[in-house]
Amino acid sequence: MEQKIHPKIKEYQEKQEESKVEVPKANLVTLKIKKYNPNKDSSSSYQNYQVPVEKWTTVLDALLDVKQNLDHSIGVRYSCRQAACGSCGMKINGKPKLACFTKISELDSTEITLEPMDNFPITRDLVVDFSRLFANHKKIMPYIMNNESEISNGTKEFLQDPKHVEEYIQFAGCIKCGLCNSACPTMAMDSSFVGPQALAQAYRYVADNRDKGKDNRLKVIDESHGIWRCHFAGSCSQVCPKGVDPAMGIQLLRGYLLGFRD
Ligand code: SF4
Ligand code: FES
Repeated sequence: MEQKIHPKIKEYQEKQEESKVEVPKANLVTLKIKKYNPNKDSSSSYQNYQVPVEKWTTVLDALLDVKQNLDHSIGVRYSCRQAACGSCGMKINGKPKLACFTKISELDSTEITLEPMDNFPITRDLVVDFSRLFANHKKIMPYIMNNESEISNGTKEFLQDPKHVEEYIQFAGCIKCGLCNSACPTMAMDSSFVGPQALAQAYRYVADNRDKGKDNRLKVIDESHGIWRCHFAGSCSQVCPKGVDPAMGIQLLRGYLLGFRD
């Protein structure tokens, strides 16, 4: 494919030729993007794109710049652009990160490799299929189970004191971005493993004192591709952009199953 030149870079070059003086340039970085469409490509390839960036440019900003000015065909998924929707996970220089939450300036590199997350089927280029993550999330019943509804309760709400909120609040920050599943070595070996995302969410509800579904949830995760597959590598917790600690949630869940907690 013929390499296009970014319009801003062209402008700098023309100005420099005209005036014969050094025109201040923005920093230039090369995005090396892995391209693969499973519906038509027999193998993947990498394509390089040079773009100007500023201190505040995120990887997603740079990618959208490439899409707008150099190659419309790049497959990338995003929505909120503020680390809230969980859509833009990808491997950035080899590590799973959110593209909208990663500034180019903090990568300390002029070549940035962008690849789809590991442990997910590829839909196209940087977009992966989340069906399995959502199915596992659904399997652990991610909602409060309690026959007493807010309506029948006299206060019209479940009251909780701060001590009880503390038990689960960290885990409630999960945005289902899948970075933890992508970093997990067990997921790489066992595609049926329920995964750190779903296990962290199982803990989130089990630890919530409004919930009465503990036994049902523990039954779901206590199976051959469930919680015991985790070898406690801890890589899930290292990559989480929201401060969730799935590895700790898994250990605490094991405590219930082993009878150390009730
Ligand atoms: S636990 Fe963290 S890394 Fe895993 S899906 Fe939730 S927010 Fe993403
Ligand atoms: S675009 Fe929503 S998390 Fe990045």
